[in-house]
Amino acid sequence: MGCPPRPPPARGAAVASPPHDPCRRRPPRSSGGERPPPPPPPPPTGVFPPLAPPTPPTASTVVVSTLLRFPPLRSALMAVGRARIIRRADALGVGWADRVAALTAALPELEAHRAAVTDDDVTPPAYYLSPFHAYAEGNVGWAPALEVEASALAVHAPLDGGAGGLGGDAVLRRNFTAILRSHVAPASVRRVVDLGCSTGLSTAAVAAAYPDAEVVGVDLSPHMLAVARYRAAERAPPRATYLHRRAEATGLRGASVDLVTLSLVAHELPAAALGAIVTEAARLLAPGGAFAVMDADPAAWAAVPPAVFVLFASTEPWVGEYARVDLEGVLTAAGLTVVGGGKNTARHRTVVAVKPQA
Ligand SMILES: C[S@@+](CC[C@H](N)C(=O)[O-])C[C@H]1O[C@@H](n2cnc3c(N)ncnc32)[C@H](O)[C@@H]1O
Repeated sequence: MGCPPRPPPARGAAVASPPHDPCRRRPPRSSGGERPPPPPPPPPTGVFPPLAPPTPPTASTVVVSTLLRFPPLRSALMAVGRARIIRRADALGVGWADRVAALTAALPELEAHRAAVTDDDVTPPAYYLSPFHAYAEGNVGWAPALEVEASALAVHAPLDGGAGGLGGDAVLRRNFTAILRSHVAPASVRRVVDLGCSTGLSTAAVAAAYPDAEVVGVDLSPHMLAVARYRAAERAPPRATYLHRRAEATGLRGASVDLVTLSLVAHELPAAALGAIVTEAARLLAPGGAFAVMDADPAAWAAVPPAVFVLFASTEPWVGEYARVDLEGVLTAAGLTVVGGGKNTARHRTVVAVKPQA
């Protein structure tokens, strides 16, 4: 989830274009003399790229890294991490089992939402099908979709400033939207697109911050979107719409959106996909519109115990690329102007960029 570095986080739309926007877009050397120095190695790609812990290897990081290399031991470590996070959630009062049981009881309804929201023309990119968060199925399955909210509450709980309750997730989102509103006045926003909306936690927060705007959530997981639709009546304003699309190719009309958000998604993307999504956000924005990216602040990872960090990085296949990316540079390369941002928690950062007026 917001992917603070914690042990293996078990976590964690009408289908056609919205009525006002029916358009669809298909993702449709030196010759002699002195030898040049060898080029630097390319950044690691693929599942579970090695991400160096923030400190030199220690006995504990070597042990954990070694265990992770062997699938049965890896599974055992994941199971231990998962049990630990559920225990922690229960100690905090999340009521993990009850929450998951309540959604499990609603599976027939959820299945109907999944069927309704699924767009068979949408093909997930290969990187998206990696295992995530200790789920072999990544984000596409009922287990991650039913557990993601309980996991978010537990994983983000420590972000409540030491209050010891479950308010951390709300603090994370409240601070994010406060930064957003300091740059983007609600009166100027008629339409918002929340890319990688999952079950709608971020969509609901942005909708509350921009109560007069029409809000569209986009995600690649029909299971997450099914929960978002199921929750919409109780959590998000009824006008929120959820779409099954790649964030790189939403099919929504260009220059039609005043605010695009990407909340806790960037760390789940290889650098090339992040670049493609930023380009799509820039395309969607009307001149003067804003794009806000909120995610883990890699600078905060230095404080994480190295062995825990290795475990965390092993459940986030693309976090190594995220840690190396120059986010401001990517935004600028897409034609956006970075106008501000800041830390929305001790572990998260927000960057706001604007599409220049034509
Ligand atoms: C950690 S969740 C974040 C959810 C939510 N935005 C929040 O703040 O709680 C990341 C979500 O991004 C979605 N996602 C990842 N890559 C995507 C892509 N290329 N297109 C659309 N959704 C994507 C995943 O399916 C997942 O639901």
